[in-house]
Amino acid sequence: MSPSLARLAPRALARATARPAPAAAATAARALGRQQQQQQQQRQYHHRQAPRTAKAGPSPVAIGVLAAGALAGWYFFSSADGEAKVTADSWRKIDFQNVYKDIAALLEDEDYDDGSYGPVFVRLAWHASGTYDVRTKTGGSDGATIRFAPESGHGANAGLDVARARLEPLKKKYPHISYGDLYTLAGVVAVQELGGPTIRWRPGRTDGKVATDCTPDGRLPDAAQGASHVRDIFYRMGFNDQEIAALVGAHALGRCHTTRSGYDGPWNASPTAFTNFFYTELLDNTWVPKKWSGPFQYVDKPSGAFMMLPADMAFKTDPVFRTHVERYAADQDAFFADFAKAFAKLLELGVQFPADAPVYEFKALD
Ligand code: HEM
Repeated sequence: MSPSLARLAPRALARATARPAPAAAATAARALGRQQQQQQQQRQYHHRQAPRTAKAGPSPVAIGVLAAGALAGWYFFSSADGEAKVTADSWRKIDFQNVYKDIAALLEDEDYDDGSYGPVFVRLAWHASGTYDVRTKTGGSDGATIRFAPESGHGANAGLDVARARLEPLKKKYPHISYGDLYTLAGVVAVQELGGPTIRWRPGRTDGKVATDCTPDGRLPDAAQGASHVRDIFYRMGFNDQEIAALVGAHALGRCHTTRSGYDGPWNASPTAFTNFFYTELLDNTWVPKKWSGPFQYVDKPSGAFMMLPADMAFKTDPVFRTHVERYAADQDAFFADFAKAFAKLLELGVQFPADAPVYEFKALD
C-alpha cells in the first residue's frame, strides 16, 4: 500500500477494500492470477463488507439535514461575500496546495457511505463539467451552474447537493476561489488521494454565471441506455471512444444509491480505492438482471453484492468499447495514463483559462 493510502484512508480501505492498493494489486495479480484473486476478493468482501451493504446510504433524516444544510450554505455563501471576491484573476491570490490539503481532509468520514466523500466529489466534478456542448460552446464547469436551480434539480444530479455542502466551508475559507475551480479540484484530489493517477489541473474558472445560464436537462448520460446513447452524449462533449471507455473506469469508485439514481450498490469490493476493477469485474464476473422492483440493472451472479448499470454493460457488448476495456483490464498503468488525460480534458471543457494560468500537478499527500 502506498504511504498516502495508508495514511489518508486507512479505515475506509480496511473496511471497504478487500484487495491491496493499485501498485501492490498489480504484483499480486501477476502472482495469483486474476481469477484466483477475484475469488479471494469476493470471499473477503463478504466477510468484511456484509454488515455495511445493509447501509446503502444515509437515512432520510440525514438526507434532510444535509439538504437543509446545503440550502442554508448556498444562501449564505453565495451572497456577495463569497462570489463578489472572484474576479478574472483572483485565483492568483490562492495557494492551491493548501486548498488541496483542505479538500483531502474532508474526504474521510466513517459515517458517510463507504467511509469517503471521494467518490461523490469525483461525480460532482464530472457532472459540473460534462454538460459541455462542443458545437454551441455552452455548458462545462466555468461558472459552476450545477449549483443553481434548475440544473441542480436535474435527475442526473440527484445527491450532488451532499458534495457541494461538504465543500462549502472551503468557499468561505478561500473566498477568492471560484466554485468551478473548487468543484473540479475536489475531483482531482479525490482521484489522487484514493490512489489514482496525477491529474493535471489549471485554475481560472469564474463565478460570473447565473441561473439563466443553466444547461438544459438531458446533457448527462442516461444509465438505462446503451452504446449509441453513450456515444451521442460524449461525442457532444468532444470525446472519442477510447476516451469514453477510459472515463467510465471511474465507476471503480463509489456506489449507486436508491435515494439518488434509484440504482443500488457498488461496482466492486473496493469503492474507496481508484483501481482498474471496473474493467476486470465487467469482463471476469457473470452479470445477471437484478430481481427487484427497482430500475433494471445487473448484479454479479456469484454474490449479488456488486452491480452494473445497463450503460456500463454497453462497454462489454459494444465491440469497439470492449477493445479498450480489455486493454485497461489487463494493464492498470495504461488505464491510469489514459484516465488522467481524459479526466483533465473533461474538467477543462469550455473554460477560457488566462494565458498564464499555471498547470498544477499536485503530489498526493503522504
Ligand atoms: C456512461 C456514462 C455514465 C453513466 C450512465 C453514469 C451513471 C451513474 C449513476 C446512475 C450513478 C449512481 C448515482 C447514485 O445513485 O449515487 C453514478 C455514480 C458515479 N459515477 Fe457515473 N455515469 C457515467 C459516467 C461517469 C463518468 C465519466 C465518471 C467520472 C469520470 C463517473 C463517476 C461516477 C462516480 C465516482 C460515481 C459514484 C458516486 C458516489 O458514490 O456517490 N461516471 N454514475
